[in-house]
Amino acid sequence: MMKLKTTILLGAGLSTALACASAFSGKVFSGYTVLQQSTKEIQDDDFLNLGMEAVAKGAKLFSAQGKNDKSCATCHGENGKKLDPKRIAQYPVLDAKTKRPITLQQRIIDEWATQLGNAPLKYESGDAVALETFVRNLARGQVVNVQTDGAMAPFIEQGKALFEARVGHLNMACNLCHDRHPGQKLRAQTLSQGQTNGFPTYRLANSKVIGTQTRINQCFKSVRAEKQPVGSEAFALMELYMNAHGNGLKIETPAVRF
Ligand code: HEC
Ligand code: HEC
Repeated sequence: MMKLKTTILLGAGLSTALACASAFSGKVFSGYTVLQQSTKEIQDDDFLNLGMEAVAKGAKLFSAQGKNDKSCATCHGENGKKLDPKRIAQYPVLDAKTKRPITLQQRIIDEWATQLGNAPLKYESGDAVALETFVRNLARGQVVNVQTDGAMAPFIEQGKALFEARVGHLNMACNLCHDRHPGQKLRAQTLSQGQTNGFPTYRLANSKVIGTQTRINQCFKSVRAEKQPVGSEAFALMELYMNAHGNGLKIETPAVRF
């Protein structure tokens, strides 16, 4: 109970009945579950889903000729049809060379430079996010299936520690909102588990598609913690833990969220 006091300091924020058990505790659920009906309808209809613009932009980049006249499609097929959706649903995976977890966006950024000879893309830049949105959309409906055992186990533990580390002027940790209080109201929104199965996601509040690591920074900001550099090892570990926490959920990319 003492720990909950920190949360209550958010004042107007977390409103009532913090101690009462959440309806959602125990099982994983997508952030979609707590959306308003009108937002669900935008996500569900590809003509209304504003994230589909990023999919289209990513598709263009995927077939655009690089400096060496190749495109992603040269090797991965037209519209990425040779990429295995089940494999995409496993990201982050262990990188064969570094033996560390690599996020899907990082893999795409690496491919962009090494396979096409292009100038490197910045992590979370519009083009990198569009390509990731396109590639992950190929796996929409697949079940998230991140490795958690073997060589991955220690990295999952490190990611979990970061997810549970208290940060910022409010001395908050991600799990204090997303593990303890899902289903409860925070201002206009209902707290979810902070799952990543919809990322990259169209955020109505931002009027654009953002990647997981930008969303992490937005939540850092909301607890008045410093933004962290995207594309860092620490963020890869957090994304790893968060994606693994969503094992069993269906990929929704591009999700639509408030
Ligand atoms: C010259 C051929 C070539 C080009 C061009 C190329 N790739 Fe690849 N890509 C590969 C190979 C080979 C692999 C490794 C596949 C494996 O490990 O089984 C790979 C792996 C990948 C993976 C990881 C798949 C997995 O199994 O984990 C993704 C995602 C990917 N590429 C996306 C892209 C994107 C996006 C582009 C364009 C920016 C691109 N690739 C350009 C050959 C290419
Ligand atoms: C003060 C409470 C609070 C804290 C602490 C917090 N968040 Fe959030 N977070 C929210 C709210 C509110 C939303 C939007 C509603 C929802 O999906 O929970 C959200 C949404 C998210 C989402 C999007 C979920 C989706 O379905 O699109 C992710 C991912 C996320 N948070 C990650 C984090 C991470 C990582 C941290 C720690 C750095 C964190 N959050 C800390 C309140 C919080």
